[in-house]
Amino acid sequence: MSANTGILQSEKLTEYILETSVFPREPKILKELRDATASHPWGFMGTAPDAGQLMALLLKLLNAKKTIEAGVFTGYSLLLTALSIPDDGKPSNEGTFDFAFVDADKRNYWNYHERLVKRVKIGGLIIYDNTLWGGTVSWSEEDVPAPKRGVRQSTLTFNKAIASDSRIEISVASVGDGFTICRRAH
Ligand SMILES: C[S@@+](CC[C@H](N)C(=O)[O-])C[C@H]1O[C@@H](n2cnc3c(N)ncnc32)[C@H](O)[C@@H]1O
Repeated sequence: MSANTGILQSEKLTEYILETSVFPREPKILKELRDATASHPWGFMGTAPDAGQLMALLLKLLNAKKTIEAGVFTGYSLLLTALSIPDDGKPSNEGTFDFAFVDADKRNYWNYHERLVKRVKIGGLIIYDNTLWGGTVSWSEEDVPAPKRGVRQSTLTFNKAIASDSRIEISVASVGDGFTICRRAH
């Protein structure tokens, strides 16, 4: 079983969701990429399949055509995006976008946000991955392993800032390692 416990912090519940609702519907080519990524020493960095399933649904709801991604790694989230947009859609890094996905340098999430919020169309979405940082955002600092403290601190600062950004509407979804979904309001 592949499930890392994700933000639910329950191996059984994570496995239940993955086995019942996610893996049976996962496109074969995405499964192959996920399996190949699992043998990579940093395979844990790939976007979680339950979070990916939500992202695919949002891409389709939005009928997103122009998308951008920051932080690609083996490309699970990028391939999923390509499979979820219409044939005339295109991942790109130029112009304006219907949809942006950020899973890169966690310490720079606010800098990505300041740039993207101007380039995502009104009504478009920006999703930030790992915004619950393994659940450590709710822990006392002394309980957090030292190597995780720096990014935890950046994440706490980012989460506060984004919660009070009036340019967007947000929802924090407890999938994968935490997805903050932002809709550009104006
Ligand atoms: C968590 S992984 C992304 C996983 C990806 N969503 C997937 O499903 O394969 C983060 C990636 O961001 C890249 N990265 C880190 N800092 C970056 C930066 N400043 N600019 C661009 N990419 C960066 C890392 O090299 C890594 O490939």
